[in-house]
Amino acid sequence: MPQNDIPVVTIDGPTASGKGTVAQKVARTLGFHYLDSGALYRLTALSALRRNVALTDEHALAKLAEHLPCTFNGEHVLLANEDVSNAIRAEEVGNAASKIAALPALRQALFGLQLRFRRTPGLVADGRDMGTVLFPHAPLKVFLTASVDARAQRRYKQLIDKGFSANIEDLRKDLSERDARDANRTIAPLKPAEGAYLLDTSDITAEQAVQRVLGWYFSQSAADMQR
Ligand code: DC
Repeated sequence: MPQNDIPVVTIDGPTASGKGTVAQKVARTLGFHYLDSGALYRLTALSALRRNVALTDEHALAKLAEHLPCTFNGEHVLLANEDVSNAIRAEEVGNAASKIAALPALRQALFGLQLRFRRTPGLVADGRDMGTVLFPHAPLKVFLTASVDARAQRRYKQLIDKGFSANIEDLRKDLSERDARDANRTIAPLKPAEGAYLLDTSDITAEQAVQRVLGWYFSQSAADMQR
């Protein structure tokens, strides 16, 4: 099957909007591959922090990203064979990821790597620019939103469950700052793709969001078959 015909579902949205959980469940139900593009930015940020690479050194960061020795193994993310699944979720790493994500050369370095996740039978890709930049012709594009309060609560629970300490007020402030940075950058800003379905997850469960996305996917596929 030509690469461009492999179905892709893009799920974009702000941090802690629930897109990771929803995207993974949709991928599992459809039997599709899953791309957590934020993890690539986080992996680059973690490498940079560990090697003392300045978060403004675009050239060095792009080099790091180009040669990122990463492996995705189910729920586990490896960096040069070290399991960093929890380490990349730290707030410090997320904030650093958001900062370096504004650098065009770094985004370019991660571009090809992300496209390679498009393999049969299909892909569910989550991030900020999956529907706008990476897969603009995806048959289904979704944009998840949720209030800052709902997202701060979710992030708090995630961090506590992973054994990190957290403070809800600090999280709310961090989320707002990160939203502003992700939405206002000049390159690939966070915004709904053309033709994206919008879904506010503030007052619905992850399972309800999954069912909504699957419903859209199946009605889209049925419409495509009739064409
Ligand atoms: O989705 P996340 O919180 O794991 O992403 C971490 C940061 O990476 C986010 O603040 C912005 C950046 N990012 C991006 O710019 N483009 C993507 N497709 C995914 C993440």
